[in-house]
Amino acid sequence: MDDPVTTYSDLPSLLDQLTLTEKASLCLGSDFWHTAAVDRLQIPAVALADGPHGLRTQPQAGDHQGLGGSLPATCFPTASALGSSWDGDLLRRVGRALGVEARSQGVAVLLGPGINIKRSPLCGRNFEYLSEDPLVSGVLAAAMIDGVQSQGVGASLKHFAVNNQETDRLRVSADVDERPLREIYLAGFERAVTQARPWTVMCSYNKVNGTYASQHPWLLTTVLREEWGFDGLVVSDWGAVADRVAAVAAGLDLEMPPNLGVSDAAVVAAVRAGDLDEAVLDTAVLRVLQLVERVGAASGPAPEPDLAAHHRLARAAARDCAVLLKNDDGVLPLRPTAGETLAVIGEFARTPRYQGAGSSQVNPTRVEAALDELRGAVPDGVEVAFAAGFGLDSTADDDQLATEAVELAARSDRVVAFLGLPAAEESEGFDRTHIDLPANQTALLPRLAAVGPDLVVVLANGSAVELSSWDRHVKAVLECWLSGQAAGGAAADLLLGTANPSGRLAETLPLRLADCPSYLSFPGEAGHVRYGEGIFVGYRGYDALDRPVSYPFGHGLSYTTFDYAAITTSVRGRVDDDLVIDVGCEVANTGTRAGKEVVQLYVSRPESSVQRPPRELVAFTKLGLEPGQVDTVTFRLGARDLAHWSTAAHDWAVEGGALELAIGASSRDLRLTARVDVPAHQLPASHRSVALDGSATLDEWLADPGGGAALRAVLTIDEETLRVIGNFPLNRLSAFPGLGVTSSVLARLLDDAR
Ligand code: BGC
Repeated sequence: MDDPVTTYSDLPSLLDQLTLTEKASLCLGSDFWHTAAVDRLQIPAVALADGPHGLRTQPQAGDHQGLGGSLPATCFPTASALGSSWDGDLLRRVGRALGVEARSQGVAVLLGPGINIKRSPLCGRNFEYLSEDPLVSGVLAAAMIDGVQSQGVGASLKHFAVNNQETDRLRVSADVDERPLREIYLAGFERAVTQARPWTVMCSYNKVNGTYASQHPWLLTTVLREEWGFDGLVVSDWGAVADRVAAVAAGLDLEMPPNLGVSDAAVVAAVRAGDLDEAVLDTAVLRVLQLVERVGAASGPAPEPDLAAHHRLARAAARDCAVLLKNDDGVLPLRPTAGETLAVIGEFARTPRYQGAGSSQVNPTRVEAALDELRGAVPDGVEVAFAAGFGLDSTADDDQLATEAVELAARSDRVVAFLGLPAAEESEGFDRTHIDLPANQTALLPRLAAVGPDLVVVLANGSAVELSSWDRHVKAVLECWLSGQAAGGAAADLLLGTANPSGRLAETLPLRLADCPSYLSFPGEAGHVRYGEGIFVGYRGYDALDRPVSYPFGHGLSYTTFDYAAITTSVRGRVDDDLVIDVGCEVANTGTRAGKEVVQLYVSRPESSVQRPPRELVAFTKLGLEPGQVDTVTFRLGARDLAHWSTAAHDWAVEGGALELAIGASSRDLRLTARVDVPAHQLPASHRSVALDGSATLDEWLADPGGGAALRAVLTIDEETLRVIGNFPLNRLSAFPGLGVTSSVLARLLDDAR
């Protein structure tokens, strides 16, 4: 991007100068990582590269496994970690740094962030995604897009949409009902698109309700562009296009990588045969030209990235992402003193696992190992001794390694075990089949605990692991996720207390895999995966099923403590008229050191006409507080924050009535509650969950404020009879004598309801 790039004053006239063949060529890449150029019109090619947590710029041939090698770049914490920061400012800063590195490597579009919902802990690619919750996903993705694009580099929000597993990912149909589709799977994309306006969106490989995402007119045009106002370019995931002509017609602008000589020929032939309107192709070409223009507008000398500063940012970010799951008796921070021995156990302390495999694999500028960092940071006179404890593949010498580790623990004052998932267990391309840590790791824990009771575990994994069978042996667990090239330094900072953990779980850690709401319908079979749990994804499902979990959504401890007090609420307007609900409280740091708290606001609808999770996150903020400092938090909610998707109206609908508001430190640690009444109103007939027509039942009519009153006035039955025939559609009852619902009464009721 150092070369001056053309900016165009008039894209339509440029379009007019293109031949049909040139138009088709512009909607395909020219190679694995570049769009096509049209030299005679000075239209340059632009470069795209992965994403999402570091650049993977491949100077030579492209591939998906990093086999061809990529330029060194800062490996920031993966999304599994960044999601746990609950910190938009942090993601914006990381996004900016990614933008700077992208420009310095000549990359115009960074392929990220990825925000597919963590529907199951088994998804092999969860480490690339932010959360099980669409609000957390959407807020954080918008911030990252903002950061990247502030540097004149486009982001590519991916994978649109409903790509929640790797099994059969290029063919499977994700069969999902309208309500979960809108409320869970599209809501994060909607927020990120409407708030941050990414330059590009990447469609996913899978089918959505039977149609490939890459050729889904409803998804790519009706929803993305017409409803959300997306004005950027839709790029295919690499190899996602099954039928090139259908894809263009559906709203897919750029196919990557190019199927040269096939896709372009198919498009040209379809236009010539009249099967594809040239105006539709023109629209896609204009979007490609607009991307080229956006890139051009940002050209000029690319700033040289300060890689040392980026490494420091990666370390600070990793610190803010780690989640302190438990800390019994305050065993952390460690506070070792001269003369003591700190036993560091676990191969991961020496050979860190800090990113996942596949297209997001970064060639890091440097890598910190926790063992080295601890050695460099402990006070003088403290010995940091190491034992591997286990091999990364189960090996014959596991017994020997375990015995050495136990001997070391027995002669040490403090013991920290670095556990995690071996790289081969989680990657793009396949799903996990279980969520267990390797047995050679967990078997070590009771033996270590027997000789060193204040055992601390540090975890490195890209998606939830089972803890319930082993965490009783340990006093503290620090979940670091896959936290980028500075993961080792960040872990040392947190263990020694030079930094205070402030991450919160963006995904529930279940007791058992079988407790997961999607358990019985993941990953599907015979080409279909049915999203049987509906809207009850993650904590929404665990709560509705009343299942205990290891650690709930939103959970995370600190080395300080926070008190919540003085909840306030105010309601203005009505659901159908500028509703504004303000909810506030005071949060105080009651401990002895500075720390950050993530204040979470959940809403429950006890009297809803539709199924609801017991509570849903509607707002959150992260506060930094000095010891003794008190701050006031105010959340402002509007109608859309309280809306559900009405399957009757195919639109968002807001119900009036009672609303329970709960402010807390996790989804299961609610500290303050208040109840407000949203001013009574009646949903417009089109938005009622049940349309009041002849096929609505007696019960449904009676439940409706207007229809119920009219019906009650004519009904001549007692309560007992009502219980028996309450589920009869009204139009069937006119055949039953003596109920008061004659044909003429029915006709009048229907007229009134209309
Ligand atoms: C992945 C995308 C990635 C692309 C380019 C695909 O296999 O699904 O996330 O951006 O490859 O490497």
